[in-house]
Amino acid sequence: MTTAHTPEPILQVHQLTKTFAGFQALNGVDFSVNEGEVVVVIGPSGSGKSTLVRCVHQLETIDGGSVYLDGELLGYEHHRSGVRPLTPRAVAAQRRRIGMVFQQFNLFPHWTILENVTRPHRMSHGVGAAEAEQRARLLLKQVGLEHKADAHPRELSGGQQQRVAIARALAPAPRIMLFDEPTSALDPELVDEVLAVLRDVARSGVTMVVVTHEMEFARQMGDRVVFMDAGRVVEQGTAEQIFNHPKSDRLKAFLSRFRAQGARPEEAAPAAPDATAPVPTEPTAADRMQAAPARPGRRSA
Ligand SMILES: Nc1ncnc2c1ncn2[C@@H]1O[C@H](COP(=O)(O)OP(=O)(O)O)[C@@H](O)[C@H]1O
Ligand SMILES: [Mg+2]
Repeated sequence: MTTAHTPEPILQVHQLTKTFAGFQALNGVDFSVNEGEVVVVIGPSGSGKSTLVRCVHQLETIDGGSVYLDGELLGYEHHRSGVRPLTPRAVAAQRRRIGMVFQQFNLFPHWTILENVTRPHRMSHGVGAAEAEQRARLLLKQVGLEHKADAHPRELSGGQQQRVAIARALAPAPRIMLFDEPTSALDPELVDEVLAVLRDVARSGVTMVVVTHEMEFARQMGDRVVFMDAGRVVEQGTAEQIFNHPKSDRLKAFLSRFRAQGARPEEAAPAAPDATAPVPTEPTAADRMQAAPARPGRRSA
């Protein structure tokens, strides 16, 4: 892969295993994300995608393996010859460096949009009111909702609410953003506005892991696409490699099944006149950096 940045991973996952009541949801996952990279995770339902991002965000305990953020072990500390769990306080501090957006946006219904972005930021990060509001207004502008600051969630569409949830997750300027099927709960006509915001966030240089079934987004925005099946990373590569030259039978089967039933309208009618034509090389992280020199995710110290 040709990218401009040094490949010192922000996130490193080694041999991660997770079992639910005897069921092996993650079976030795190795996974890493470099600074500024957009990694898209695809795979069939039940393959462990959500479990992977939930383990990274420490919403689940892990059974084996390790997760490092900026070289720091998450959830545990080295102790004598082994490791022991961190205190809840230390875990909370680590989790603040990771932003997460879920399928369900879960805004607080009785708070305004502005409050939904400022309050969690203030409560968990001890940020002052003025600073939190300034940051929130900037982010609401970025997701195109500054005019909704004083509205309540019920007055917004699902797509707008998800855009607020993205602004909320970006507020503390996390080192990495995890998105778990951020458009799956939306009516089809609302998906594109959320994908547009995701593209914008990616172009601003934020490091992202995006679990999605939106294959067009994966093709366009994924610096790397990771295919999971049965709790393992089966194959990963550039979008071109994954979509146009899949190697494993499982990925081939997934893609053909997906094309047969799951394609959204814009996938069925791509810009290229020939649907079977190879996809042109997509912009790399380096292209995107060039297009967007500012990195708003990190400029407010
Ligand atoms: N809390 C849980 N309790 C029991 N089983 C779970 C739990 N969470 C996930 N699983 C199981 O783990 C497997 C992987 O789930 P998940 O990570 O949600 O897959 P994906 O996001 O790829 O659809 C599935 O078989 C699912 O049923
Ligand atoms: Mg899932």
